[in-house]
Amino acid sequence: MTVGETLAGCLLITGTPGAGKTTVSQLVAERLPRAARVDGDVFGIMLVSGGANMLDEEGRWNPGPDGQHQLRLRMINLCSVADNFAEAGFTPVADSVVETREELRFIAGRLRSRPLMLVVLCPPLEVARHRNATRAVETRVDYDFAPLARNQRRELGDLGWWLDSGEQAAEETADLIVAEAARRAVVPESVLGS
Ligand SMILES: Nc1ncnc2c1ncn2[C@@H]1O[C@H](COP(=O)(O)OP(=O)(O)OP(=O)(O)O)[C@@H](O)[C@H]1O
Ligand SMILES: [Mg+2]
Repeated sequence: MTVGETLAGCLLITGTPGAGKTTVSQLVAERLPRAARVDGDVFGIMLVSGGANMLDEEGRWNPGPDGQHQLRLRMINLCSVADNFAEAGFTPVADSVVETREELRFIAGRLRSRPLMLVVLCPPLEVARHRNATRAVETRVDYDFAPLARNQRRELGDLGWWLDSGEQAAEETADLIVAEAARRAVVPESVLGS
């Protein structure tokens, strides 16, 4: 990619908590000439009341039916906002945990922007844990995300671009994504079921 060139379509950056989605998606957006970072977590924070507890009594990530419904709502809002930016000529750089193939298909079914480029940040689990433990306390998560990492690998392992950022600075990861996402991260329509 040359300076000033934008990425067509929508970039979706996923991975476990602490993998670096928010950090890297910000840096990717900064490197593009017209881009917006669309943070999936923001759509949860917007709920002023009635937000479901996503953790169970043992502190595990385990949303109940209401929580599942609200996670869907986050995805619906994420897709709508991403499309609005794309239609105005801004590349949406979406940042959200996607755990299952079914969730990815749901997103792809709502999102009009194409191509859909999926980047899964997959530093070794220990690195993600360390990044989580050493980031600002208000952004830290307390639950064990090893099961989420396993599910993501099983469900999405053959899709998109799995990028091990474990030994990279966030800026290097962002440079790589800007340079190579169009070639390495596009999810084929045949997989998305549309
Ligand atoms: N190579 C790297 N890439 C991304 N982040 C890195 C890297 N090296 C160190 N970090 C640090 O690791 C932390 C990653 O946290 P970040 O909030 O970006 O994760 P996240 O994937 O968005 O998590 P969550 O799902 O909880 O929102 C940040 O404090 C960041 O500065
Ligand atoms: Mg984040």
